[in-house]
Parts: sequence; structure tokens; C-alpha cells
Amino acid sequence: MKGVTIIDHPLVQHKLTIMRDKNTSTAGFRRLLREISLLLGYEVTRDLQLTTTQIQTPIEKTEAPVLEGKKLVFASILRAGNGLLEGLLDLVPAARVAHIGLYRDHDTLEAIEYFFKAPSDLADRLVIVVDPMLATANSAIAAIDLLKARGATNIRFLCLLAVPQGIERFTSAHPDVPVYTASIDRQLNERGYIMPGFGDAGDRLYGTK
Ligand code: PRP
Ligand code: URA
Repeated sequence: MKGVTIIDHPLVQHKLTIMRDKNTSTAGFRRLLREISLLLGYEVTRDLQLTTTQIQTPIEKTEAPVLEGKKLVFASILRAGNGLLEGLLDLVPAARVAHIGLYRDHDTLEAIEYFFKAPSDLADRLVIVVDPMLATANSAIAAIDLLKARGATNIRFLCLLAVPQGIERFTSAHPDVPVYTASIDRQLNERGYIMPGFGDAGDRLYGTK
């Protein structure tokens, strides 16, 4: 699929299977999501631009590579995005963070906004939007609408599970935003849940419901 990268690293796939298992505890699910975010983060940042800086090693002066440009932004779609965010911040501790509060209306499946806070200079930064699920894509589309309205132009979307219909809707709405996912699952059920999926990501992560 154009614009979509599947992160099929064996460790990602192994951890994902344990997360899918309904017998995995809240603590286990949370730990695995954090672990998997390190592996996903490695892939989604693989092509970041480098420049060089001069440093002095204990032996000699040398030009050594460092990340170019302004610190990147992780934009977490609440609540479940925070499960990915924590591990990503271990990888890139200096990253800036945006929080986007959205929940799905259970009847209409529309994304309802309740919170937005982001760095003011989004136009100058790479923004990586994180949420474990791309189902109808309503939440992801709304999140990126909000970020673009505040100036973001260089955006990536990182999730764990997506479905073909969600990817299609997302890439028609935001063709300029590449999608990174660990799996493309089969389809949505009649209540908008991903099949086989792993259920409600926020509930699995926080032990609600
Ligand atoms: C879940 C998930 C996504 C959204 C995906 O959040 O974390 O944000 O559903 O579904 P969509 O693609 O159909 O919009 P939810 O709305 O359940 O909120 P929560 O994380 O607070 O539980
Ligand atoms: N949101 C979830 O948390 N799970 C799904 O399966 C679909 C949307």
C-alpha cells in the first residue's frame, strides 16, 4: 500500500501476539506496549537527517554525527497514545510533546475533541503522531487536521494496528502523511473494533471497563 510501512520485525510481531491475547494482564499489556514502542520508534526515525558537530574524544578531535534541525514532536492521541509515548521519550528524551484529547463517540464513531496542547512552533518540526489504533481513522484524521491548522507540515503517523478501510480513508484525507504500522488487520466489526485486533486499547492499557 502506497505511503504505508509495515514494521514486521520479529520482536514486534512476537510482542503483538501477546498483546492480542485477552488473557494478558493490564500490567503485561502496558509493559509490552512500552517495549514495542522502542522498536517502532527505531523504524519511524530511521531516516532522520544528520549533520555533524566537532567534539573532542579522549584521543583526538573529530567531526561526529548528530540529529539535524529542531527537536521533533511526539503528538499523543489520548488516552492510548500515551502508552506509545512513554517508550518513545526513552528513545528521544529531548523530544517535545503534544497531547491531543479525542474519544470516539460509541454510537457514531466520530472523534470528539476535548483537549489540545502542542508546542507553538510546529511548522519547523517533524511531528510524529502516535496512537495504537487506526480503525475508522476518524481520530487520526481529526488529530492531523488540528496539527495542520496550527502549522504542522512535516507529519508521520505511527500505530500498532490498522485496517485497510482506515488506511484508505486516512491516506485520502492526508496523502502527505506516511503511516507506520506493525500490522494491517482484516477489518472492522459492526461496532468499529479492529478484527482480530486487541480490543479497546485505552481500556487494555489502563484497566478501565
Ligand atoms: C481509540 C484509539 C484511537 C481510536 C481509533 O481511542 O486509541 O484513538 O480509538 O479509532 P478510530 O480510528 O475509529 O477513530 P478511544 O476513542 O477509544 O479513546 P481512549 O483512548 O480514551 O479509550
Ligand atoms: N479503538 C480501539 O481502542 N480498538 C479498536 O479495535 C478500534 C478502535
